[in-house]
Amino acid sequence: MNMNGQSPPRSDGSDPDLESWQQSAAKWIEQGDRIAEVTGEATTLLIEALDPQPGERFLDVASGVGDPAFSLADRVGPHGRVVATDAVAAMAEALRSRVAARGLADRVEVHHVAVQELSFPPDSFDGASCRFGVMFFPDPADACRRLARSVRAGGRMALLAWGPKQGNPYFTCAMGALDDVGAPELGPVPGSHGVFEFGEPGQLASVCRAAGWREVDDRLVDLRLWVEAEPAGLLEAQARISDRVRERCDGLTPATRARAAGRLAKQAEVWAREGHIAFPAQVHLVTGRPWQACT
Ligand SMILES: C[S@@+](CC[C@H](N)C(=O)[O-])C[C@H]1O[C@@H](n2cnc3c(N)ncnc32)[C@H](O)[C@@H]1O
Repeated sequence: MNMNGQSPPRSDGSDPDLESWQQSAAKWIEQGDRIAEVTGEATTLLIEALDPQPGERFLDVASGVGDPAFSLADRVGPHGRVVATDAVAAMAEALRSRVAARGLADRVEVHHVAVQELSFPPDSFDGASCRFGVMFFPDPADACRRLARSVRAGGRMALLAWGPKQGNPYFTCAMGALDDVGAPELGPVPGSHGVFEFGEPGQLASVCRAAGWREVDDRLVDLRLWVEAEPAGLLEAQARISDRVRERCDGLTPATRARAAGRLAKQAEVWAREGHIAFPAQVHLVTGRPWQACT
């Protein structure tokens, strides 16, 4: 473990997180619009923190299929530029298609590149962002250093990571219902980092400080995740989004699956709002400036 409690990069150069994203890319791409809708409040939070201005240049890393790259592109306008990157080829390819479909090819440039290989010249950007990617990087401090190096003095950077497990029932309640009905557990993916890697307050901020960021601020923000479902259909909705929930559901008899769905529905009643489950959620918004800003 390193100072952040993370497993160090493997000496054989393998990256279990990346392998896992390569495997789940197809599902993520298929569910892209739905995921954007579920997590819309998180995107708004990040964009407000970065406050992109018309004509500015932004770097977004681990962009998946376009959050927050598309929102950045809206804000920087036709004279601005967004460079969106992802380490998974299928993800970058899908993003390129989405960019073309939205007629934004002159504004959003997509690079298939891992964060640990980024090497933009200094001062290439006015700002940099990463939404829900940093927990999967083999060396988050190195990634933060690379972001800071590519942002001009006085520019801004913002990262979003999930807060503590207990504040994010979206990730745990389906698994809890499956545990309750005795669904066989899935082991952890060996060597990979979970979504709560930076859940505890201060963890991600200390990585950013170690990477030389200045004026680091870490806010634990409460928001809602909006899943379009009725309580009774929530387990199936979660299984469509998450491979791990689906894998556990697939091993069950119809009766046991229905029992798990019932338990989850009961729990979710309290969050039901007009055709959606509005899950309470907590995220860390970590902002800062590159070190050049203080020299
Ligand atoms: C949870 S998704 C977030 C995607 C997008 N930013 C969003 O919020 O919807 C995590 C993303 O990190 C990417 N990723 C994982 N390891 C990476 C690495 N080492 N360098 C760059 N991207 C990576 C995955 O391919 C995936 O697209």
